[in-house]
Amino acid sequence: MDKIIVKGGHRLCGNVKISGAKNAALPIIIASLLNDGWNTFHNVPQLMDIESTKLLLENLGAQVETSGHTVRVNAAGLSRHEAPYDLVRKMRASILVLGPLLARLKKTRVSLPGGCAIGARPINLHLKGLEHLGAKIGLEHGYVEAAAQELIGNEIYFDMPSVTGTENLMMAAVLAKGETVLRNAAREPEITALAQVLCMMGAKIKGAGTSIITIYGVDSLAPVTATIIPDRIEAGTFMAAAAITGGDVTLTDCRPDHVGGIIHKLKMTGADITVSGNTIHIVGPERIGSVDLKTLPYPGFPTDMQAQFMVLMSVARGLSIISETIFENRFIHVSELRRMGADITVSGNTAMVKGVPLLSGAPVMATDLRASASLILAGLAAANTTEINRVYHLDRGYEALVEKFSGLGANIRRVKN
Ligand code: EPU
Repeated sequence: MDKIIVKGGHRLCGNVKISGAKNAALPIIIASLLNDGWNTFHNVPQLMDIESTKLLLENLGAQVETSGHTVRVNAAGLSRHEAPYDLVRKMRASILVLGPLLARLKKTRVSLPGGCAIGARPINLHLKGLEHLGAKIGLEHGYVEAAAQELIGNEIYFDMPSVTGTENLMMAAVLAKGETVLRNAAREPEITALAQVLCMMGAKIKGAGTSIITIYGVDSLAPVTATIIPDRIEAGTFMAAAAITGGDVTLTDCRPDHVGGIIHKLKMTGADITVSGNTIHIVGPERIGSVDLKTLPYPGFPTDMQAQFMVLMSVARGLSIISETIFENRFIHVSELRRMGADITVSGNTAMVKGVPLLSGAPVMATDLRASASLILAGLAAANTTEINRVYHLDRGYEALVEKFSGLGANIRRVKN
């Protein structure tokens, strides 16, 4: 297994191009299952999760072609309705085939994803929604089995906004009969991006990006060519890295309007941030100031940036309180940060972080995608060398991370263990 070695103390300077968004690319590529013909997607990040998605689609009988950052999918040969355990276990987002397969084939069998390092992550809201559209749902031998003679539009209320839940139901409802209204839907930019691509295919969707989404079912959808939006979490991670190293970094090819909550908090830490078109220029403060934060569904502060912000607060002047309200177990990075000298106390879903002047490099273990990124940030700011193990998590969701940090002047390398 590879590891990443970071020697801290280097100020990051220069330009970095933000890649396409993993969490937008996954549902959009999967939406190809809804039509017959070649769909073309540009700006697809080169990531393990994208590779897993391509395998999953091929397994279902679709043809997939890749050339650089362009992925083409043709689901005319869609022949199987099952997403097997081996593929779903590698990537929870495989659950996103549930809606499209049910819409296209009227039946599907998808392995239950189970919990993961950050929480139990149930899919009850996906299933309840599909039942409201007329599907019969059963759970057999670890698989969700869903079937419907016909999907019929209905009102669906989310007890809490779920990103992939909203995406799954949008993809099921576009080919259902009549009108579906999703209430308390998720409002993340990835939802809007998926809705835009579905509309380009011929779907009729109103309100995506708000908490009430109305979908008028159509008989069929056509193939499209679309470009994946920039990754707001990758952008946030680089902004945090610039801030923690007192750096001077310009992010290009990003969507500043998607990272408003992150920019707001970073400014409160003392970072100087200017936005112009699709670039963000950030200059880190001499020492980070402390801020409190609470993770919330979009447009609130993203849970996918909580670990990276906790690292900033670990070296901030003063005390900060961080509340994680989305996932019940998303503080596993705390014990690793403590090993680097961070002063963090956790009580329930709240962490109290007392900033220390400097972290000290140590061997640490990555536990999930965003926690891995946070350990790299900690390493960039720490004295001496930090060795991050289990970095395969990073390959799932950050394109060329080591190369991008090196390009900004970080002393970072990846080695085979
Ligand atoms: N929830 C339920 N029942 C459900 C679905 C969700 O109780 O049926 C709860 C979850 O347990 C959680 C909350 O609702 O407490 C929100 O979860 P959500 O369903 O929105 O999460 P998700 O769709 O599984 C996506 C991203 C995550 C990101 C979350 C929150 C993708 C592929 N994944 O997950 O991204 O953290 O939304 O923004 O879009 C990552 O990229 O590292 C990552 C984990």
